[in-house]
Amino acid sequence: MSDDRLIVALDVPNAIAGLELAAKLGDAVSFYKIGLGMLTGGGLALAQELKDEHGKRIFLDMKLFDIGATVEAAVRGLAQFDLDFLTVHGDPHVVRAAQEGAANSDMKILAVTILTSLDRADLDASLLKAGEVQNLVIERAARAFEAGADGIIASPQEAALIRALPEATGKLIVTPGVRPAGAALGDQKRVATPAQAVADGADHIVVGRPIWQASDPAKAARAVLAELPER
Ligand code: C5P
Repeated sequence: MSDDRLIVALDVPNAIAGLELAAKLGDAVSFYKIGLGMLTGGGLALAQELKDEHGKRIFLDMKLFDIGATVEAAVRGLAQFDLDFLTVHGDPHVVRAAQEGAANSDMKILAVTILTSLDRADLDASLLKAGEVQNLVIERAARAFEAGADGIIASPQEAALIRALPEATGKLIVTPGVRPAGAALGDQKRVATPAQAVADGADHIVVGRPIWQASDPAKAARAVLAELPER
């Protein structure tokens, strides 16, 4: 099995396109992220097929947020799909409920702190507490770990600070916003290279467009893997 530190974001519209891409990537990639954009395009069926027929690991990026009872019920349902990672928002009541729902499965619950698309003005508009965004991210990460999150989704810029938290011992850090040296940034602003993200404490890196938009996606995936340090 190839190096599962690389998670490829299958940000294509439907399961058919996802399967075609996974076929092109073949043995180069063993871990896939399926997001909300594919939910109505057969995302869960794709997750199951990649898992059962191709032996891949699956990260379902749902970023759930609701009252505890609803989160618990949603996660209990999703746990039947034999997924590896599931995202929820990092509010303690959400994380606790998600862990209840995942109790009889191996699915890891990863918490989102503050979406990287939000700046201080957005937090003000949502009446969220004063303070620098990065400090709030670290505080929310600590709270999510205390509530039982198995890991955190973090920008590479925050990975080192989160890794340094005492609460982060034994927890996973997964970073999107990773760009191979010299790749186009797209709309990602605060990026790091694969090597830097791992050096800063990331257990897994999520890479989308630099791989799935490449003319040879398998070659692009192997180039990202080649940038990772030896384990
Ligand atoms: O194409 P790219 O490598 O930018 O894709 C990164 C993936 O990670 C996308 O699926 C995107 O939605 C997701 N993501 C992100 N930044 C976050 C959270 C998730 O880029 N803060």
